[in-house]
Amino acid sequence: MTNKTDRIIIFDTTLRDGEQCPGATLNIDEKLVIAKQLARLGVDVIEAGFAFASPGDFEAVKKIAQIVGTENGPVVCSLARAIKADIEAAAEALKPAVNARIHTFISTSDIHLEYQLRKSRAEVLAIAEEMVAYAKSFMTDVEFSPMDAARTDPEFLYQVLERAIAAGATTVNIPDTVGYTTPSEFGAMIKGIIENVPNIDQAIISVHGHNDLGLAVANFLEAVKNGARQLECTINGIGERAGNASLEELVMALHVRRQYFNPYLGRPADSQESLTNIDTRQIYKTSRLVSNLTGMLVQPNKAIVGANAFAHESGIHQDGVLKNKLTYEIMDAQLIGLTDNQIVLGKHSGRNAFRTRLKELGFELSDTELNKAFVRFKEVADKKKEISDWDLEAIVNDEIQQAPDLFRVELVQVSCGSNARPTATVTLRTPDGEELTDAAIGTGPVDAVYKAINRVVNVPNQLIEFSVQSVTGGIDAIGEVTIRLRYESKVFSGHAANTDIIVASAQAYVNALNRLYASLQTQQKPEEVTAQKV
Ligand code: KIV
Ligand code: ZN
Repeated sequence: MTNKTDRIIIFDTTLRDGEQCPGATLNIDEKLVIAKQLARLGVDVIEAGFAFASPGDFEAVKKIAQIVGTENGPVVCSLARAIKADIEAAAEALKPAVNARIHTFISTSDIHLEYQLRKSRAEVLAIAEEMVAYAKSFMTDVEFSPMDAARTDPEFLYQVLERAIAAGATTVNIPDTVGYTTPSEFGAMIKGIIENVPNIDQAIISVHGHNDLGLAVANFLEAVKNGARQLECTINGIGERAGNASLEELVMALHVRRQYFNPYLGRPADSQESLTNIDTRQIYKTSRLVSNLTGMLVQPNKAIVGANAFAHESGIHQDGVLKNKLTYEIMDAQLIGLTDNQIVLGKHSGRNAFRTRLKELGFELSDTELNKAFVRFKEVADKKKEISDWDLEAIVNDEIQQAPDLFRVELVQVSCGSNARPTATVTLRTPDGEELTDAAIGTGPVDAVYKAINRVVNVPNQLIEFSVQSVTGGIDAIGEVTIRLRYESKVFSGHAANTDIIVASAQAYVNALNRLYASLQTQQKPEEVTAQKV
């Protein structure tokens, strides 16, 4: 393999590094839904998890390897510390994948060596070499990361990389673990690696970076100019602390400005050929899916996928765009799959029309999923009459959500108003199939509903985020509710969509409680799992 690939490899770590942010925890089925969508998006590598971290992570990597890791599918990867047991778990979980990769790592900065690893440089060098060779005994595709590379003494970094490549690493990843570096420094670091690691031509140079100073994407683009050919990123930039470099920002920067980047990849400046394998029309849908399933909302002004990213408020801008889009728009919204919000279906539309439109929108549902979604569609169409593409998307995303079905909302009834005390009655079906009803008074209708639900479920928790967004304009719009709640040190999210926002609020809350309840039922305590994650 050579360092000079003629395009950029997109390594998606939404399901590993992305899932590490508080509240983003996904169950196995949800990870699979996202992995399938990442494959449709066209990512080259999916880091499906950290197989050794927990039995759930192991199963998720294995299932994604089985179902998404097909001949023409992406490479499926598992993270592993430079420890034999981690590498063995990764290799075992990845067995079903046609194209698999072990990604092993060890810290190399002096501060990590002294306080975290308590090891000398010589020891780390030996471990890196030995564990890369061990991973190589399971598969040919091995990635090595010197963690905290951006704060590592360059001379030591060169040595570690040389030894890892000699031991068989086919990709060497340079992480800015703490999001500390600046673009010119990061570019110079990649240049230094190319100039000082004698066998660097035998490996792809990858970059990984966190967004603590908001510089991750800029750092990566400078790294590309200096020879990096794999970018490790997440959908919506989710991840540890301030997140990871955002996939959609990187891909669209490389697409919109390809004439600028082409020469760095040895292409003629005017080449129209894409610099990545990503199908950009899948970007918006992937972003919505990840946001709904993780409960991590996308800020309205987020580049590329934020609600305002293509909205023109000022009169001067609107006037310009009406005359010629290019006056104020550097890319077409359709390029990221943002369709016009057309009215497409109504209350009399049948299953065939429903299925056909979903297909056109790029949703591939199983028969069971389609049946469930169709029932929901009929319910919504009865109330709303005209159903748009965005409504359809909300219905489908809501239906394919895979939160454990432990408690189920059977009835929600509220009484509120200017001179009334907000009161709610709820009936929930418990995991044992019993129907329990309770009532409560709150400061508002949602508060009353949540108090009534708490009386039934009885797991103390703290609501830390509650948001309602309308899917379309209009008084009869579907409302999407996203909530996050804290239980001890862990955060759980819930999401639901309904034309009645009180019902959506109840369902989103029960969704999150179900995740919390399911995690209490598993052997491993949630804190133990988090502690093992990187
Ligand atoms: O941020 C980091 O350093 C990581 C490594 C495991 C690549 O996530
Ligand atoms: Zn990371």
